[in-house]
This record gives sequence, C-alpha cells and structure tokens, in this order.
Amino acid sequence: MVVESDDRGPATSFRLFAHPLPAGELRLLAPYDAPAFLALIDGEREHFEPWLPWARELRTVADAAGFIARGTQRYADCGAPWVGVWSGGALVGGVLFWPLDEMGNHIELGYWLARAAGGRGLMTDAVATLVDYCFAELRLNKVVIRCAATNLPSRGVPERLGFTTEGVLREHFILDGTPLDLVFYGMLRSEWKNPR
Ligand SMILES: CC(C)(COP(=O)(O)OP(=O)(O)OC[C@H]1O[C@@H](n2cnc3c(N)ncnc32)[C@H](O)[C@@H]1OP(=O)(O)O)[C@@H](O)C(=O)NCCC(=O)NCCS
Repeated sequence: MVVESDDRGPATSFRLFAHPLPAGELRLLAPYDAPAFLALIDGEREHFEPWLPWARELRTVADAAGFIARGTQRYADCGAPWVGVWSGGALVGGVLFWPLDEMGNHIELGYWLARAAGGRGLMTDAVATLVDYCFAELRLNKVVIRCAATNLPSRGVPERLGFTTEGVLREHFILDGTPLDLVFYGMLRSEWKNPR
C-alpha cells in the first residue's frame, strides 16, 4: 500500500485511530466507549484501585465520559493519544499519557489491563506500539514510565521492553496513607529497538 506524505513530512507506517496487535487492537478512546469503559473499571476494581487512584473516582457513565474527554483534550494538546486495548471484541485495558514535558521533550505513560486479558504480553505489545508512536510520530526524545516498587507486574512492562532503570524516587507517592517508592524507567529515542 502506498502511504502518501503530508505537510508534516514523510508519512509513517501507522496511525493510532486503530492499530492491530498480535492479540488485540488499540483504538483511540471515544465518547461512545464510556459505557464499556465503566464496565471494565467496575469489573476490575479490586485489581485496579490499589494502583490507579483515578479508578476510585470513576463511578458513572458520565465520569467515564469525562475521563475520555480528558484524553481527547490531551490528544488535541500534544498528539499523545489515550487508547483503549480491545481483545476478543471487548475493551480490556488502556494506556494514557501525562502532559507532554516540552522543555525536556519527554512524556510519561500509564496502563491498565483486565486480569482475564493479562499474562499474554498484550500490554507489553500495546506499550511498545505507543513508544514507537512517541518516537516516530511525535518526535519525542524520551518516554518515561514510573511504577510503584512493589507493583511487579507493572514493572515487568518497561523491563521487558528494555527501558533503563534510572533511579528510585523514594516515598514519592502516598496511597492510602502509605508512602510508596517509585521506580523511574526511561527510554531514549536513540536507544529504542522495539523487541516486539
Ligand atoms: C500492569 C499490568 C497492565 C500488567 O499486566 P500483564 O498481564 O502482566 O502485562 P502483559 O499483558 O504485558 O503480559 C505480561 C505477562 O505475560 C507473560 N507473557 C506470556 N506470553 C507473553 C508474550 N508473548 N510476550 C510478553 N509476555 C508474555 C509475561 O511473562 C508476563 O507474565 P509474568 O509477569 O508472570 O512474567 C496489569 O497487572 C494491571 O493492569 N495492573 C493493575 C493496574 C496497574 O498496576 N497499572 C500500572 C500502574 S503504573
């Protein structure tokens, strides 16, 4: 297939409105996904809430729509998409981006995945695709992931993708009154080799 270039330079091989993964698909979250998004969070509260404070506040379809709207705004602001991960026709997870750090030309992402969809590398594939996107489309210099030191499944994602552990932010985040150490992972554009 011939991909035409546009005024931003040569076109790259994918756009993220819908992107296939080996075991699913990434799609930009849209307003009509709000009921499915709420159902995902409601079905996985025990799994998500220890690590995702925003999930605790998300209780209604309107809350879910508001969350998705924040992602749409972020996409408009800096081109970083908040995506859903679909597998077997169901919304099973997602990836979001924090605001772009323009001075440092880097961005941080976060993720979540339903238990039934876990353990197959689906989130690792999703994050690898989005790191590709950050470097190839957004021309960022660095992608950052911060994980609670005790959240081993979360740490597995950057470690599997070859991110460098740049340090530990000691007692950097307080969850339910407990200070947590955060492990800081970084990947530079110059060193990124997608292993997926
Ligand atoms: C963090 C989270 C997304 C990780 O989910 P996950 O299922 O471990 O991640 P993946 O889909 O990438 O799967 C990786 C697992 O599948 C296994 N796997 C099987 N086939 C694989 C393949 N082809 N490729 C890669 N991994 C594969 C890996 O070994 C790994 O399992 P292990 O940790 O037991 O070794 C999930 O635990 C979660 O949503 N937790 C709650 C929310 C959260 O903590 N978010 C992060 C906040 S920073």
